[in-house]
Amino acid sequence: MVREWDPRNASSVEIASLLDTLNAVLAADLPQDPPWRESSMREYLAEVMPGERRISWVAQDGPAADGTPGPILGHVHVLLLGGIGVLEVLVHPSVRRTGLGRDLVKLAARRVWDEGFQSIGVEVVGDTPAVAFYESLGFAREYVETRSVLDLGAVDWPALTEMATGVSAGYHLEFCPGGPPDDLIEAYARTKAEVRDLDDGELRPSSYDPQRLRDSLDTLHRRGMKPYIVLALHEQTGEVAGLTEVVVPAQHPTRADQYDTIVVQDHRGYGIDRAIKARMLLELRSAEPELAEVQTWNAQANEAMLKVNAELGYRPDRDWCEYGVDVGELVHRLDAHR
Ligand SMILES: CC(C)(COP(=O)(O)OP(=O)(O)OC[C@H]1O[C@@H](n2cnc3c(N)ncnc32)[C@H](O)[C@@H]1OP(=O)(O)O)[C@@H](O)C(=O)NCCC(=O)NCCS
Repeated sequence: MVREWDPRNASSVEIASLLDTLNAVLAADLPQDPPWRESSMREYLAEVMPGERRISWVAQDGPAADGTPGPILGHVHVLLLGGIGVLEVLVHPSVRRTGLGRDLVKLAARRVWDEGFQSIGVEVVGDTPAVAFYESLGFAREYVETRSVLDLGAVDWPALTEMATGVSAGYHLEFCPGGPPDDLIEAYARTKAEVRDLDDGELRPSSYDPQRLRDSLDTLHRRGMKPYIVLALHEQTGEVAGLTEVVVPAQHPTRADQYDTIVVQDHRGYGIDRAIKARMLLELRSAEPELAEVQTWNAQANEAMLKVNAELGYRPDRDWCEYGVDVGELVHRLDAHR
């Protein structure tokens, strides 16, 4: 049975069941990834940025003989933001290849079409069944990144301490748990704006005006994702010359996500990238004692950043791709499929 589903008022049994399916998917497709926990799972599924909407459906097995509701074996949601619908589909490994994934995409695609959106994007993890699945539906690969993972157990901490202090004179580093302090929000947003054209795909639009930055930090907190920031401040101008952002999600607090790292063009070549990332790892070691790994995503063309990541101990893990499709074509293709 497939039905529209709202995580805000779903029962906690349903949230737990969806989490079980997510963990079964991870065990099948990404066995090295840590399983997710229930902590803030509802908020993770429900909360969105102002102006965005997420619409969800679940596929639930029939009730047991005693009437207890069956488990949630499939889930789809689409996040409607600035002209694009971002899709996520999950099907429990025990019921794959029965057409459920296709049925779920059909529901979401039709809604995106009815809402007047033109395109659908999706993140697809390399070397998983999702690649063949989305290609069979006519999605095309638009962008590829490499995910890399750093094992904190293998880090050379004395070398890292040296890297953290290896920044040229005239800059100082600041650690900001929770997000940038209020008096630096404007400067922080300006720095993010500077590189917005170079930013990766459209699926994770970056925050570049102060209000959007505040909203995005607030949304992260509401979703149970704790941001940490290290800034490199240019002492002479007070400018944010560089920044790096890591998020520790309540859902998998042993593995953090390294988000943007930015060094402003004029401040490149002073060791800022290496220093801010190294300082971040040192700070996280005491701020998040449960943390065991950090993962990050980089464009394959970004050689300078890949080099620094390798020095810090990041190891390439998988391709992480963005696929896209025209909604009209997708709806047509799915309607034609019997
Ligand atoms: C991708 C996914 C949704 C597919 O669900 P599904 O219910 O098995 O897909 P369907 O049965 O509707 O398959 C539709 C078509 O996709 C293609 N396809 C799906 N899985 C495939 C596979 N393993 N190999 C080759 N083709 C495949 C086939 O063309 C299939 O049609 P067919 O069975 O008639 O040949 C499912 O594997 C899944 O949940 N993957 C995890 C996705 C994810 O987001 N993971 C994130 C963390 S890893």
